[in-house]
Amino acid sequence: MRYASRMQQLAATSSSAWDVHHIAAEMLARGEDAILLTVGDTDFASPSIAVETACLSLSGGRTHYAASAGDRPVRAAIARRHFLQTGQTVDPDQVIVTLGAQNALFTAALCLVEPGDEVIVPEPMYVTYPGTIVSAGAQVVAVPSPAENGFHPDLAALEAAVTRRTRAIFLATPNNPTGAIYTADELAAIGEICMRHDLWLVSDEVYRDLVFEGVHTSPASLPGIGSQTVTIGSLSKSHAMAGWRLGWMIAPLGLAAHAARMTTCTTYGIPTFLQDAAATVLDELPNGLPGMLTTYRRRRDRLSDVLDAAPGLQCHRPAGGMFCMLDVRSTGVSSYEFADGLVRSEGVALLPADEFGPTAVGYLRINLGVSDDRVDEAASRIARYAERLKTLGWAAA
Ligand SMILES: Cc1ncc(COP(=O)(O)O)c(C=O)c1O
Repeated sequence: MRYASRMQQLAATSSSAWDVHHIAAEMLARGEDAILLTVGDTDFASPSIAVETACLSLSGGRTHYAASAGDRPVRAAIARRHFLQTGQTVDPDQVIVTLGAQNALFTAALCLVEPGDEVIVPEPMYVTYPGTIVSAGAQVVAVPSPAENGFHPDLAALEAAVTRRTRAIFLATPNNPTGAIYTADELAAIGEICMRHDLWLVSDEVYRDLVFEGVHTSPASLPGIGSQTVTIGSLSKSHAMAGWRLGWMIAPLGLAAHAARMTTCTTYGIPTFLQDAAATVLDELPNGLPGMLTTYRRRRDRLSDVLDAAPGLQCHRPAGGMFCMLDVRSTGVSSYEFADGLVRSEGVALLPADEFGPTAVGYLRINLGVSDDRVDEAASRIARYAERLKTLGWAAA
């Protein structure tokens, strides 16, 4: 039997970086001591107000179909929170509720691009972007965000990458995996490129409440670009609600109407009791879970201090988000060899970052969403492994 040709392209975007994660997960299943710092989940519990609202909603009978694009109260709550954080007024009709930010990215891609189109994405990029864009039939054109530039995008390269076929720029700020927060000037320059060339700007802001240094800017709020910008958000990171799969896109009315039609064919609406919980959480805790930011910053600093003192290692301290990037290039072993040796000898799983893009080759991504004790323990095991590599003359141990 035949499969759609897009499946071949999708298969080509799959990665072996997660092998390390599976090794560590098997160790845990055997009762061994392993620390998984691969997946971007968190040790924080979802806010109790979300749980209580969802339970009340369920017991109150909110178990029927919702409007495909989302019910009015949650769309209005997302619009209110967006105004509070960005100063941009949006109509609830501009808000489409989705199954997490991932489904919003997919919906945006399906509504905006088609076979033969190109989408520019600064790399390192979140690993689902290629599959998302390829599924919509378009090609990804990756543009480097050099480490020497703090992983900020090379704007000249970005404009040079625009062709007749370019339809959109997708970006994430704060970035996964690098934690770079694009400045207002950078975003204004990217916005101008979009305006000059008639491109959509899809701005993925799922980490917008996790800002350690600097200021997060929502490009939609910058002059001129709002009418061609899509803002993507979710409760996954800011509110420790990854498993609830509650996200959204905010788009100009014309695109929102298309996206609403698309959701009728994809999700046919998001569970009503989750929408009720989301509306409450966004009104009560608009800027994310209390304590999360300070906790992640503390972990970032403790981890980086230990790793920077270890031989051959350098830890890139992120300005935002929930990941550190560990640079192992001076050890002479690849990120894959480093990760494999580390998990087998010390039971610590880090994600080789090479598949986020060529700029991230030789880095490993470290999740800060585990307890302080586990972060400290992981840091000392990673440092011990680096010491051993050094004693062995920097050969994979
Ligand atoms: C940059 C970025 N965008 C989107 C997502 C998907 O988020 P969600 O869980 O809301 O689908 C993630 C998840 O890790 C992410 O890192």
